[in-house]
Amino acid sequence: MIRRLDLPDAPALAETEAEAAEARLSAPSALRNRDAICAELRRLAPPAGRALEIASGTGEHVIRFAAALPGLDWQPTDPDPARRASIAAWAAGAGLPNLRPPLPLDAARPGWADRHGPVDLVVLVNLLHLISRPEADAALAEVARVLAPGGVFVLYGPFLRDGAATSPGDAAFHASLQAQDPAIGYKDVIDTCAHLVACGLRHVETVAMPANNLLLAFDRPRQK
Ligand SMILES: C[S@@+](CC[C@H](N)C(=O)[O-])C[C@H]1O[C@@H](n2cnc3c(N)ncnc32)[C@H](O)[C@@H]1O
Repeated sequence: MIRRLDLPDAPALAETEAEAAEARLSAPSALRNRDAICAELRRLAPPAGRALEIASGTGEHVIRFAAALPGLDWQPTDPDPARRASIAAWAAGAGLPNLRPPLPLDAARPGWADRHGPVDLVVLVNLLHLISRPEADAALAEVARVLAPGGVFVLYGPFLRDGAATSPGDAAFHASLQAQDPAIGYKDVIDTCAHLVACGLRHVETVAMPANNLLLAFDRPRQK
């Protein structure tokens, strides 16, 4: 399900006429956080193989990730056709041989792991707070299924810690999401980790990121 939410950082048409004509969208948050996320990916991602990005949004992340990690073959996805058009436009401008055309993917709909895997890296940035807990649980269960043995999952976003927001700004954003749909909002980091571990992944690292966000890394253990 795609929700139409009123978000403070909603993507806008990119600024130049050429960009607008090509359907490129630009999200201020993606431009702010992509270098910090990219630095962690360089450290945590496998050097080669297949990378799947879920909820790719404008495409401004994946063009940076694919350029920085050229040993990986990158597959961006998003359920929103306008976002997929934007990803395709940014990708055309980037001209990267290891970046595939975007595919439609509703991560909360069970079964997609059978069509998109196995992959060696999954990247998911800023989605879980925009979907319900059952949808998040379903999406994360599919992530665990889509990973090849030894594969890595990198999850980034805002989280509750011990059930509470960590700043007034986070509390206000969480409340504004719940005002739009009581089922959505920030997820607790402990619950999220516990669910992924129950799905068979191993928690590798939690990294504190700018603006109170967290980056969580997991892997799928190889069979002994
Ligand atoms: C806040 S944006 C984040 C985009 C990008 N990851 C970023 O950080 O810039 C949320 C994205 O999630 C996508 N989305 C919403 N519901 C989804 C779902 N059920 N499965 C996959 N993506 C979804 C939206 O279309 C949108 O592109």
